[in-house]
Parts: sequence; C-alpha cells; structure tokens
Amino acid sequence: MRFDIITLFPEMFTGSLSESIIKRAKEKGLIDIKLHQLRDFSNDKHYNVDDTPYGGGKGMVIKVDVVDNAINNVKTQNPNVKKQRTVLLSPRGRTYNQDLAKSMTKYDNIILVCGHYEGFDERISDLVDEEISIGDYVLTGGEIPAMVIVDSVTRLLPGVLAEDSAESESFMEKDSDDNYLLEYPQYTRPVEHKNKKVPDILLSGNHAEIAKWRKEQMKRKRS
Ligand SMILES: C[S@@+](CC[C@H](N)C(=O)[O-])C[C@H]1O[C@@H](n2cnc3c(N)ncnc32)[C@H](O)[C@@H]1O
Repeated sequence: MRFDIITLFPEMFTGSLSESIIKRAKEKGLIDIKLHQLRDFSNDKHYNVDDTPYGGGKGMVIKVDVVDNAINNVKTQNPNVKKQRTVLLSPRGRTYNQDLAKSMTKYDNIILVCGHYEGFDERISDLVDEEISIGDYVLTGGEIPAMVIVDSVTRLLPGVLAEDSAESESFMEKDSDDNYLLEYPQYTRPVEHKNKKVPDILLSGNHAEIAKWRKEQMKRKRS
C-alpha cells in the first residue's frame, strides 16, 4: 500500500509516521509513505496556495488549480497502481470509523489531501473520490486526520500485526443490532492492586470458560 500525502506541513509527519508499528511496516516494505509539499504546485512565483474568498469573509481559501496540479502530479508518479483512492480531509466529510478503515485496505494507493486555513475552494470536491472527517470537531489542518487514516489502515494490512491480533480488537466485529463489539478487559500482574482484584475466571486456568467470559465482555456498552 502506498500513501501519498499532499500537505503544507510535511514536517508534521516525521515523528508520528516513523515509530513503532508504522516504522516496522515501512521497513518490511508493506507500506510506503510519500509526502508532497502543496506549495511546490503553485502557479505563481510567490508559491501562493490560497487566496481571499469571493463574496468576502474571513480567512484564506486553498486554490483549486494548485490542488488540481498536485493531485495530477502525484497520479502520474504512480502510473502502475490498479486501485487508487483520492481523499480530501474535511470536517463535513463522511465520518471515519473502523468499517471505512477496513474498506480502504482494498486500494494499493491512497492519496490524502490535507487542508489548512479557512478551507478549500468548493470545486476541489470534484477532484477527489470522497471526503472524510475524523469526527465532529474542527482541527487546524488535515495533517492529524491523515495520520489517523494511515495508522488505522496500516494496522489492518496483512503482515503488519502478528497473525490474528487485530481480530480481537475493538470495532472489528458487530452484534446483531449493528453495534461494534469492544475488546474484552485485559489484566496483568499484580493480582491485586488497591483492593481491585483480577477476575477469578482469568486465574482459573479453564480456557473454555475464559473464552466464553471474554466473548460476553465484548458486548459491553462503551463507557
Ligand atoms: C480549520 S479547518 C477548516 C474548517 C472549515 N472552515 C469549516 O468550518 O468546516 C482546515 C482544514 O483542516 C482539516 N480538518 C479540520 N477538521 C477536520 C476533521 N474533523 N476531519 C478531517 N479534516 C479536518 C480539513 O482539511 C480542513 O480543510
């Protein structure tokens, strides 16, 4: 899977996408992450990427021609990909969840376009396949949402986590009412801490009963 991230702030990604599971996935060649500076696709000598809104109002709006250049350039760098998805990070997009993360694993290239400032020229919507929001709040830019997508999709790719370890995680299955199941409670030593004991069932050694208990616990409501 190749991720192409179009952003005004590529430096924001260096720490978060260079550690732990993402780092190992890159080293194993399971993912590749390419960062593209949006300013490089500006059409003027001052490298402007935004302008004031028509009709007046506060803030600056990211220009459609600059984003069009950027997306086209990234696509020509990847002529051999079979399944490509271009995503605009936007608070008004479809709300991201684990089902959407799973559905994104079928692409071999995901292009993520990060906004900043007041937002995008409306015509940028026509240049992408979909708009995704990571929740009903407004962030300063699309960089954190892009990191969320890269991380959550990468964990689901074959070979990234130890075999089956994603299966028992929260949000991987649903009950008959279409509610996500959550991960069962986990404990480790000590057996007792400040009067709180590990449930007896987990100390019983009865693996069938433990599995049954865990399955029940996965139906808990969210706290
Ligand atoms: C300050 S926000 C613009 C908010 C816009 N003026 C509005 O009211 O909807 C700048 C950029 O951050 C990104 N962004 C902010 N919140 C987001 C969210 N919840 N999900 C995805 N992207 C978000 C988008 O790329 C957006 O264009």
